[in-house]
Amino acid sequence: MNPIKVALLGCGTVGSEIARLLDHHGEDLAARIGAPVELTGIAVRRPDRHREVRADLLTADAAGLVASDVDIVVEVIGGIEPARTLLLDSLRANKSVVTANKALLAEHGADLYAAADASGADLYFEAAVAGAIPLVRPLRESLAGDRITRVMGIVNGTTNYILSEMDSTGAGYAETLEEASRLGYAEADPTADVDGYDAASKAAILASIAFHTRVTASDVHREGISSVTPSDIAAARALGCTIKLLAICERVGEPGEEHVSVRVHPAMLSKSHPLASVGGAFNAVFVQADAAGQLMFYGQGAGGAPTASAVLGDLVAVARNRVAGGRGPRESAYAALPVRPIGKV
Ligand code: NDP
Ligand code: HSE
Repeated sequence: MNPIKVALLGCGTVGSEIARLLDHHGEDLAARIGAPVELTGIAVRRPDRHREVRADLLTADAAGLVASDVDIVVEVIGGIEPARTLLLDSLRANKSVVTANKALLAEHGADLYAAADASGADLYFEAAVAGAIPLVRPLRESLAGDRITRVMGIVNGTTNYILSEMDSTGAGYAETLEEASRLGYAEADPTADVDGYDAASKAAILASIAFHTRVTASDVHREGISSVTPSDIAAARALGCTIKLLAICERVGEPGEEHVSVRVHPAMLSKSHPLASVGGAFNAVFVQADAAGQLMFYGQGAGGAPTASAVLGDLVAVARNRVAGGRGPRESAYAALPVRPIGKV
């Protein structure tokens, strides 16, 4: 069987773990896929700084790598450009794409889905929401026959780590944020985490796939945790509560008037609420669907290895699709459920 050729874009917190796992589990993955996986190149900004991977794989020419003879492009660079152009070029050339880039999907998801559907290429993004937790695939596939009414939970590991540490140890905001960055949880620019942009991107992705509509990050009411003070946390504790940053995506309104509402903000939760005990960089998400009832998803929401696990799961799925000559779910067949930002009627 011909090898499945893979280009890796980015070799930071997540990318270096992907390269490591591909190297360690190559034979197992080949058996699961039905073809060997060959990592043909790794694009980074500064090839001379990467001692953790084979030097002959490294390149600063991401566009050249994407244009070379590869079947699958894995993107863990982050940000909008050059990731957007690289992924659109890949999809247009019928190369399958696996990405962890929630900011890009929340802003330009519609263009990426359209490019994937036009060429028939796969676009998978399990790692973009809630790290290692299988959540995107259940919403896109397992629950595709149901009617989802609500998706609600903790989707940012960094802010959950900060709030949990401040509550349990009394640690300060600045020191816990620094520790979250050191542990590989925070974004390259951690204001994306603490100001709620990262959670808003994830909420937009979850609402889009749960309600079969198009939600962008700008549709999401967003409030971060930078104004939550130690005295807010102490006051919540005195009331038997804790503070969590929640993402809440809902289908609201009567039939015929139905619309989608998405918001991200800190909320005070009773200590007896299941989300109150979610500590560290863990995430937890409740999904409510008409027939399935309530489901809860829980696990590590950030960090190199947990995120790489989700990326590799997608890599196996799209590689299997290529071997079998099929493809994963289409995203362009969408209903036009309107999105109504909070505060706008
Ligand atoms: P890092 O900042 O650790 O790594 C980014 C990598 O991309 C680096 O290797 C960098 O190269 C490379 N890079 C940046 N710009 C370019 C460019 N223009 N061309 C080629 N390579 C480039 O990020 P993370 O690994 O933490 O995150 C990557 C993605 O995964 C982001 O989209 C993030 O949101 C997402 N994600 C991250 C999670 C986490 O817990 N960290 C969890 C879930 C998703 P160099 O090293 O040479 O500078
Ligand atoms: N910065 C993100 C977080 C990484 O803390 O949740 C995982 O998406």
